Amino acid sequence: MSPKHQTCVVAAAIVDRLDRPARLLAARRTAPPALAGQWELPGGKTEPGEAPADALLRELREELGVRVRLGAQITGPLDGHWPLASALTLRLWWAEIVDGEPMPLQDHDQIRWLEAGRWLDVAWIPADRTAVSEMVRRAGGP
Ligand code: C5P
Repeated sequence: MSPKHQTCVVAAAIVDRLDRPARLLAARRTAPPALAGQWELPGGKTEPGEAPADALLRELREELGVRVRLGAQITGPLDGHWPLASALTLRLWWAEIVDGEPMPLQDHDQIRWLEAGRWLDVAWIPADRTAVSEMVRRAGGP
């Protein structure tokens, strides 16, 4: 399979403003049972032939009803990706909403804006907790 057609998981750290992030958006999953009730950075899987950034824009439109501008990628330790429990890896971008009010339309039953200094206050999926902890560390801590 060419890399172009490989499934990857993409997600966004949606913040109130890209140039000086204070609030971070967390979304609570409803499925699968093992992850239901845990919080994630919203996103999902790429479809065959879909570029990762396009997949992310689509997922955020479908799941939250928002259009976003993507900022820089938040690089993880695996070739820039973050490890997941499965064989897949996660690619993460900063993002800022440019249109719409986020609502849990699909896959989530709640969303929450986490204030500065409280980005670790929800029960994140372990992979997301690792990434958010590192984001906080790189920013100099809460
Ligand atoms: O959202 P979706 O079910 O398509 O995501 C595929 C898998 O990627 C999930 O089962 C979950 O384990 C993982 N994931 C994650 N963190 C995210 C998004 C997805 O760990 N922010």
